[in-house]
Amino acid sequence: MLKVAIVGGSGYTGFELLRILALHPNAQVTEATSRQYKGKAVAEVFPSLSGFYDRLRFSEPEDLKGLGADIAFSALPHGVSQGAVTELLKSSRVIDLSADFRIRDLSVYRAWYGDHASAELLKEAVYGLPELKRKEIKGARLVANPGCYPTSAILALVPLLKEKLADASSIIVDSKSGVSGAGRSAALDTSFVEVSHGFKAYKIGSHRHTPEIEQELGAIAGAEVSITFTPHLLPVSRGILSTVYVDLAKGVSMKEVLSLYRAFYEKEPFVRVMDEGRFPDISQVRASNFCDLGVFVDEKKGKAIIVSAIDNLVKGASGQAVQNMNIMAGFPETTGLIAPPVSI
Ligand SMILES: NC(=O)c1ccc[n+]([C@@H]2O[C@H](COP(=O)([O-])OP(=O)(O)OC[C@H]3O[C@@H](n4cnc5c(N)ncnc54)[C@H](OP(=O)(O)O)[C@@H]3O)[C@@H](O)[C@H]2O)c1
Repeated sequence: MLKVAIVGGSGYTGFELLRILALHPNAQVTEATSRQYKGKAVAEVFPSLSGFYDRLRFSEPEDLKGLGADIAFSALPHGVSQGAVTELLKSSRVIDLSADFRIRDLSVYRAWYGDHASAELLKEAVYGLPELKRKEIKGARLVANPGCYPTSAILALVPLLKEKLADASSIIVDSKSGVSGAGRSAALDTSFVEVSHGFKAYKIGSHRHTPEIEQELGAIAGAEVSITFTPHLLPVSRGILSTVYVDLAKGVSMKEVLSLYRAFYEKEPFVRVMDEGRFPDISQVRASNFCDLGVFVDEKKGKAIIVSAIDNLVKGASGQAVQNMNIMAGFPETTGLIAPPVSI
C-alpha cells in the first residue's frame, strides 16, 4: 500500500484529494496537515467523509521531512508551497498542486509571482500533464501539477499546434471558472452575495496562468507563443469552460480537425472528444477527471473554435494529481479515477 501525505489537506484541493483517495485501492492517506484544524478528525471537518477516515486527524508537523510518505501532495498556496516541497523531498516524492514549480524560467516566475526560495528545483520539476509528459512523470521526484485554466487551454490546443495546422500567434483563450478556483478561505470578492447573481471578467491581461499556458504551448509549437487570455468568474461552485479561438492554416477543414482530435486523444482515458455539432458543458464533467472537447471549424473564416470543459478541482487539480501519482507509482493510470460525472 502506497503511503500518502497531504500537506494543506483542509483546503478545497486537499478535500478533493481526500475524497478521491478514499476509494483508491493501492494508496492510503497516512497524514493530512492543517494549521487551523490541527488535532481535529478529518470527518469532523469534512462530514461527507464520515466512515472513510475514522482514524485520521489533521496534524501540524514541525518537521515535514519526517512524514514518512512515499508520495506527498502539497496543496498549499503558491509561495508557501516552495519551502514545504524542499523539506518534503528529503523523504518523499512530491506532487505540488501550487504554481511554484510550473514555470521553468526563473525570470518569468519572478515577473509574475515574485521571489523563489527553491529556484534550484525549477529545472528538475516535471510539468505534470499526463497526456504530454507520461514518460517524464514516471521517474520524477517532483511533479508540478498543472493549473486549472492551463489544463483546459492546453488540452484544447495541443493537436492543432503539434501538427502545425494553426497560427500560434492568434490564440485567444476565453475561460470561465467556478468559485472554488479561488480556494476555501473566506474573501469578500468570492462570497455568496457578491457572486451569486453576477458574471464578470477579471484579471484581464494579467492572470498568472498566462505564462504557464504560453510556456507549454510554446514547447509544443516549437516557437514562442503569446496568447490573449481572459478569465471569468462563474457563479457555480466548480467547473471550467474554456472557449479557444485560433486561426487555421489555409484550407483546413472541419472534418480534418475533428479526425485529428479523435486520433490524437483516442487512447487517452480522460479526454473525450465529442461528435460533430456537440459541445461540452461543465455539468457533464462535474466531480470527474474528464476533459471534454468540442471542435468547430469556421471554414469560411479559417478559424477553429475549440470548447473545453473540466472540473477545476479534479482534472484541474486533485484528480490530475492522483493520475500523476498512479503514473509515478506504476499503477494503472485510471486507478481510483474512473467514474461517471455527477451531472445532476
Ligand atoms: N482551487 C482550485 O481550483 C485549484 C486548482 C489548481 C491548483 N490549485 C492550487 O492548489 C493549491 C491549493 O489550492 P486550494 O484551492 O485547495 O486552496 P485553499 O482552499 O485555500 O487551501 C489551502 C490549504 O493550505 C493551508 N495553508 C494556507 N496557508 C498556509 C500557510 N501559510 N502555511 C501552511 N498551510 C497553509 C490551508 O490550511 P490551514 O489554513 O488550516 O493551514 C489549506 O489546507 C494552491 O496553490 C492553488 O493555487 C487550486
